[in-house]
Amino acid sequence: MSNKKIGILTSGGDCGGLNAAIRSIFYRAKNKYNMDVFGIKDGTAGLMQRPVAAVQLTHKTFEGYLLRQGGTFLGSTNKGNPFKFPTKDGKFIDTSKEIIEGYHQMKLDGLIIIGGDGSMQILKKLAKEGDMKIVAIPKTIDNDVGATESSIGFHTAVDVATQALDNLQSTAASHRRAMILEVMGRDAGHIALNAGIAGGADVILIPEIKYSIDGIIKKLNEMKKHDVQHSLIVVAEAVKKEDGSRVMHKYMDGEKRLGGIGDYIASELMKKTETECRVTALGHVQRGAPPTASDRILASAFGVYAVDLLNQEKFDRMVAWRDRRVVDVPIDEGISTYKNVERKDSLVETALSLGIYLGDEV
Ligand code: F6P
Repeated sequence: MSNKKIGILTSGGDCGGLNAAIRSIFYRAKNKYNMDVFGIKDGTAGLMQRPVAAVQLTHKTFEGYLLRQGGTFLGSTNKGNPFKFPTKDGKFIDTSKEIIEGYHQMKLDGLIIIGGDGSMQILKKLAKEGDMKIVAIPKTIDNDVGATESSIGFHTAVDVATQALDNLQSTAASHRRAMILEVMGRDAGHIALNAGIAGGADVILIPEIKYSIDGIIKKLNEMKKHDVQHSLIVVAEAVKKEDGSRVMHKYMDGEKRLGGIGDYIASELMKKTETECRVTALGHVQRGAPPTASDRILASAFGVYAVDLLNQEKFDRMVAWRDRRVVDVPIDEGISTYKNVERKDSLVETALSLGIYLGDEV
């Protein structure tokens, strides 16, 4: 009987730990089951190319620094839904059949997809329509996939943001400034809350909790009463202006992304107080950094488990981290709940107990 043949693709925004996951999948598949493992380039875009853009992975592939490197050496894309794929002339076409055909041309016994909730939703639909045998591994710095306590990439993003606060503290103190750090996380405040606690923030603004500029000013004034003249403010990118509007950045190619709320907070504070503010928007540094030990470990554990699922022909499952171990759930269940920060989360209480201003409703 010939060896089983499996594929791996990374989809959506990259993050630290993806290469560690690919490495782990390869070792488990090769060493335990003697499978042939192919890495598909650029997410589903690789399956649209003819011949399909894929490379066979070998032990040699992983001899170097991949475990330690951020990003994904296979490439990824978070542009376009294949069911409504944007063309250069501004139209939308359905490319799902090409992707499904590419998968079948490869004669795969299964495909491991490493993606966030958006990618999993799309691949799940493709798999259903095209009889593709998939297993999913959750990755996202936003850590918003409901079924898993941790997704690959989150710890690394938190670590980068914490280090940024460490670096900002000294310069904030030297100049007696309020340093505002804008972090990613899309509609969830996990990166801001976790890094804010770890990095000693005085104010943490997250999309889930309403704040006011007056509330921030009150906190800064209280600090001044204790003769603390500098401060660290962390703001998540999806925090809205006081009037409820979102702050977006429009790029030349027409793509709109969250960004700029840090500048808004700074200008409002400077309008109303004598506090000098400066803003650091961390951006993609949170995604490209070398993965932390926790992310490498999580990615390695997920990779092994995902291959075992494929080998047992348990398809349409997502691996998840719960109670210190890997489990698996149906993909639908995995992505059915979006995990926001909730008032009852222990970290909210932790932040409040540390005297951090989180908003006016808590
Ligand atoms: O979902 C991950 C994420 O990094 C978000 O935190 C952020 O809003 C977005 O992706 C940025 O997307 P892009 O890489 O397309 O700029």
